[in-house]
Amino acid sequence: MGTLQINIGPVLELQSIVHDFRYEIVRKIYEGGMGIVYEAQQQGAHGFVKRVAIKVVRERYNNNSEFIENFVGEAKLVADLIHTNIVQTYHLGEFQGMAFISMELIRGVNLEQFLQRMTDLNRTLPQELAVFIVSRIARGLAYAHAKTDAEGHVLGIVHRNINPKNIMVAWEGDVKVTDFGVAKARGFLTDKEGEEVAGKPEYMSPEQADFQVTDKRSDLFSAGIVLAQLLTGKNLFKALTAEDSRQRVLTAPIPDFTAVNPELSVRLNEILQRALSRDLATRYQTADELLFDLEHYIYHKGYGPTNETLGKFIRDLFEDELKPRRRTVRSGTVKLNSTRKTNRNAQSGRGETLRTVRTSRTTSKTIKTRKSSLIERLKSKFK
Ligand SMILES: Nc1ncnc2c1ncn2[C@@H]1O[C@H](COP(=O)(O)OP(=O)(O)O)[C@@H](O)[C@H]1O
Ligand SMILES: [Mg+2]
Repeated sequence: MGTLQINIGPVLELQSIVHDFRYEIVRKIYEGGMGIVYEAQQQGAHGFVKRVAIKVVRERYNNNSEFIENFVGEAKLVADLIHTNIVQTYHLGEFQGMAFISMELIRGVNLEQFLQRMTDLNRTLPQELAVFIVSRIARGLAYAHAKTDAEGHVLGIVHRNINPKNIMVAWEGDVKVTDFGVAKARGFLTDKEGEEVAGKPEYMSPEQADFQVTDKRSDLFSAGIVLAQLLTGKNLFKALTAEDSRQRVLTAPIPDFTAVNPELSVRLNEILQRALSRDLATRYQTADELLFDLEHYIYHKGYGPTNETLGKFIRDLFEDELKPRRRTVRSGTVKLNSTRKTNRNAQSGRGETLRTVRTSRTTSKTIKTRKSSLIERLKSKFK
């Protein structure tokens, strides 16, 4: 028997490819105080195009080294986070001195817009979909929390800013965690824990609001706040000012949720109590534990909610945005415009993330300046 020989010719040892990307901006998705998110078209060879999202730092922050450090830190930190429940980052680039991140484009809305739309339409979220959404957040968190470096050491990632605006829900029902802009991990991002807290106060864990060093359990408390909000329609800790919200996170009693919403089961209340335990020892210790309880809750009877169920719900909710628009043109004919009308979803997020400074550790002068800038930001937030 002879051996089969295939001549494949000289093998090209590819060493590297040097290539620049070109992005055409399609529309603005979000304009925040510090950054702007665009939908863009990435151009490739032979007419290849791919829609992506691009986040840029606002011009006035481009010379702020701490800010840029965090922006770059975010990109490097999430570069290798590849999970269906986390918005994937593709690239960190620089254009005319401006840093930008390109990432997976989520066709959908953030959870804040989702909640707003339900309020506007006077709709309620079925409980099992609320639990499903938070179970997907827990899946993304479990992955990020367990992420290791190349040598196998746990990176110790803590997102620190889990709130509805940083959760995206795609029209297909995928739920994705985004914005690791204030996340911490060993070796990434300027970390001032113990002196400053960054994030939305009404979604903070008590240890975070108390300027203590946080670990992954902090994100589970925040996920608990989101779950409670999805199930009751209200944020537990939101007050008129950031400082009052922070205080409520620290001290407001955690209610019996079956009393807040009589339709809630005892089991869901138990899950909420455990996620929202201020005592770290009795809180869920890992996102996996929270995930297990949430999934068990929705699936133990057999069939439970899926991406498809959530996708159907959200497409129904945003039916107007999604349906092809008919536009009358001058000639009197009717033209079908199939472009999804999402521009009016462009949001403004001024002051979304607040920085509060620990007063007892700073000089009174610093407190004043920091405080007054905080007040300025709050004013713009609540005006
Ligand atoms: N990959 C994406 N695809 C679609 N929309 C996105 C994407 N990333 C962010 N957005 C939208 O932009 C908003 C702000 O993005 P985020 O990364 O949270 O920036 P910031 O740090 O300013 O909060 C999000 O709430 C979401 O509505
Ligand atoms: Mg955000």
